[in-house]
Amino acid sequence: MTRKGFIFDLDGVIVDTAKYHFLAWKNLANSLGIDFTKEQNEQLKGVSRINSLEKILNWGNKTVSADEFQKLLVQKNEEYLEYITKMDESEILPDTEKILDFLIQNNQGIALGSASKNAVPILEKINLLSKFECIVDGNSVIKGKPNPEVFLKAADGLQVPPAECIVFEDSIAGIQAANAADMISIGIGEQNVLYEADYVFKDFTELSVEFLKSLMN
Ligand code: BG6
Ligand code: MG
Repeated sequence: MTRKGFIFDLDGVIVDTAKYHFLAWKNLANSLGIDFTKEQNEQLKGVSRINSLEKILNWGNKTVSADEFQKLLVQKNEEYLEYITKMDESEILPDTEKILDFLIQNNQGIALGSASKNAVPILEKINLLSKFECIVDGNSVIKGKPNPEVFLKAADGLQVPPAECIVFEDSIAGIQAANAADMISIGIGEQNVLYEADYVFKDFTELSVEFLKSLMN
């Protein structure tokens, strides 16, 4: 077996924080008189905080001053932080640890590739930080997903060529980023949303050991 690079997105793949991002964005949008649907939310998954707010304001045909923009970013993050301070291991999505441990036992490279600036505190809260050899998050990239920078940096950190990396992602933007990085993209979620991925599974409980082994060859 060769050492491959397995790169995990965080929100919506390891933990279901996607629901907290959704709530915080919805409350913010509604407070500005802007409607916010689940379909629009799909387009924000994997997208940085700044780009997400730009999209919401665009959808609502609203412009705000630079000062107000910053305030709105803080407001959204404050609400989000209220949700995540209450998190613990019970919020790790099913079979995540089983897969991480299986890959570690098989000497595979494990990295985080997340758009979030809150990634490290979340991994600490759910006690998974030590499983990752390399962390690339919203604090370490300039160009957000769908740009491949986050995953290319993770491959670099693992010292594995991009073509030998596998990305687990729940977002359209993230799948596009993985494809642009020339990596194997594995969508975690719905086939009709993540159809650009090389493979799609509903969640980690659907991934067999045989499939994981096939990725290591
Ligand atoms: C991504 C989420 O992982 O991180 C997005 O899917 C979120 O919804 C982005 O906007 C940035 O997160 P944060 O925690 O820096 O606001
Ligand atoms: Mg995600």
